[in-house]
Amino acid sequence: MKTYVFAGASNRALHMYAKPMRQDFSREWRILGGFDINPGQAQVFAELAGGMPVFTDFADMLDKTSPDCVIVTTVDAYHSDYTVGSLQAGCDVIVEKPMATDAAGCRAILAAEQATGKKVTVTFNYRFVPFVTRLKEIVAGGAVGQVYSVHFEWLLTRNMAYAAHGASYFRRWNARMQKSGGLLVHKATHHFDMINWVISQQPSLVSACGQLNVYGSQNAPYRGTRCSTCAHQRECPFYYALTDFEKAFYAEQETYDGYIKDNCVFAPDIDIYDTMAATVQYGQGAVMAYSLNATTPYEGWHLAINGSQGRLEMSNFETGPQSEEPDIHIRVLDLDNRLTDHVVSRLAGEHGGGDERLRRMLFLEPQPDPLGHGANSLAGAHSVLIGAAANLSIREKRMVSIARLLGQGG
Ligand SMILES: NC(=O)c1ccc[n+]([C@@H]2O[C@H](COP(=O)([O-])OP(=O)(O)OC[C@H]3O[C@@H](n4cnc5c(N)ncnc54)[C@H](O)[C@@H]3O)[C@@H](O)[C@H]2O)c1
Repeated sequence: MKTYVFAGASNRALHMYAKPMRQDFSREWRILGGFDINPGQAQVFAELAGGMPVFTDFADMLDKTSPDCVIVTTVDAYHSDYTVGSLQAGCDVIVEKPMATDAAGCRAILAAEQATGKKVTVTFNYRFVPFVTRLKEIVAGGAVGQVYSVHFEWLLTRNMAYAAHGASYFRRWNARMQKSGGLLVHKATHHFDMINWVISQQPSLVSACGQLNVYGSQNAPYRGTRCSTCAHQRECPFYYALTDFEKAFYAEQETYDGYIKDNCVFAPDIDIYDTMAATVQYGQGAVMAYSLNATTPYEGWHLAINGSQGRLEMSNFETGPQSEEPDIHIRVLDLDNRLTDHVVSRLAGEHGGGDERLRRMLFLEPQPDPLGHGANSLAGAHSVLIGAAANLSIREKRMVSIARLLGQGG
């Protein structure tokens, strides 16, 4: 039986791990405790998860519980510190994406893992969505031949009818570069990992541009600290009412850390981009044109992959009328334009069914893994480093080498 503790009593820790672990895999493991800097949130987390000892000192938790594995689920910026601390204490680590928010964090984790011989697993749930798994099978099976280029556009909606997922990042801690690395790290780490994994190539050079077009105080007057007390609730296109869960989990615990969950999307200290584009050169020859936009009418993505034997095209609509369609089509054209349409049914469940399939791999080991769904620290680093390099490229207006960020020259 394996024993676990949590670093970070977050929403993700509760709904992805603690609750389902107790409900679905109750004989395989034991949860020994949960740590958070916010004692109120740690307490609510523990209660909602069915009870566990809570700690506000990480070293104290490790000392008292001696777990086999630490599940790191804090705000992104602290992932690397807790991952390194856990490895050094002799624990394996399951760390939420992004593994770190910058190159220094990635280097520290890779070095600590090597020094301790312990194992880091990065939870890229997107790999486990059935149509992404099928995409990997098709490309790995040679349907497009050697991959020459990737065109990848990701859309995060501002539309309140769809809970304005794109706008929501600008209400939360995610809107501060120091906390999240911006959307090029926080969000795009999923996307970069998906492409790195699907085409089996490693990134080498990155250049990027970024803008803040809709959110932040330069685009509209700052309306006040939070939606719940805002005088502009009626006319603001981004007014958001906290759910009962959010009130209990965050707002009622605010006295401990001052974190405001329904911050104004026009706050003056928002310093991330809502519109980004990056080009990536891969070491094995492919190039990628990528864009991410958090201001769009619907949410989803569009992908094209060109190779020596043909072209693959697919779209995934996550909101809007087309999201009602039960199937995803992965269309492959050979060089004579003959079409093969691979049809994959959507799965119900969080993140397209990916969360449940990922949990089975994490907690019902050993599982067969012929396609390499399990992501190690190097995969975690490669996806973070594309985003970190893109941030650097935007700031310094230059092309950035991933090998240099890894401290390898090049
Ligand atoms: N894979 C996915 O699809 C997915 C989805 C959602 C979130 N996530 C990831 O899960 C993690 C948690 O996200 P969330 O939205 O659930 O967060 P959240 O806002 O619910 O919780 C973040 C927690 O981090 C704690 N924290 C802040 N600073 C800390 C510090 N210095 N030390 C320890 N704890 C600290 C906060 O008190 C809070 O409890 C993030 O890394 C996020 O990227 C992944």
